[in-house]
Amino acid sequence: MTMEKLRAEMTAFFQKLYIDQQKVLVFGEGPLHARLMLIGEAPGEQESLQGRPFVGKAGRNLDEFLALSGLNRAELYITNTVKYRPVKQSAAGNTVNRAPTQEEIRLGLPFLKREIALVAPEVIVTLGNVPLRALMGRQATIGALHGQWQTWEERRLYPLYHPASVIYNRALKSVYEEDVVRLGAFFRESMPQ
Ligand code: URA
Repeated sequence: MTMEKLRAEMTAFFQKLYIDQQKVLVFGEGPLHARLMLIGEAPGEQESLQGRPFVGKAGRNLDEFLALSGLNRAELYITNTVKYRPVKQSAAGNTVNRAPTQEEIRLGLPFLKREIALVAPEVIVTLGNVPLRALMGRQATIGALHGQWQTWEERRLYPLYHPASVIYNRALKSVYEEDVVRLGAFFRESMPQ
């Protein structure tokens, strides 16, 4: 199995499933055998327009993550739990983001697991509850597990709050920042290049 083949399978699967909906799939990005794999929730508007994960506002959050951790974007493989933008119509009739449903997460999970197997990262970093619970189960919560090393299928998994969720909460933001700094220190100290 190659990443190209996995992407082709995903494309075929979701095209058939959403035959009348024209979903744009945003695939993961980064070196195939990156040491760290970052898993977000789902693409937003910019991601869907540009066809890349974590661009636009989420990209600026990611830049902050990189600055705090001392990691480079080029050494990360970045992907999402759900590969297309979940949307709904607002009361005013605009197309807006919504959280992915359990069904969307369930449908994406086998592909995400195969993506993880292909990248085979030393560390998986999940952002927020969506990827954390998709992998670790519904009992896992980011409030309890953030910043604490977990084991998922014999891989190290480090749960972080989703950067978008901490923006308006100063207390949570400093917890998030401390967790990111600790992750960066772990990489420098125990996993030298
Ligand atoms: N953009 C992404 O690609 N993922 C997120 O989780 C949020 C914004």
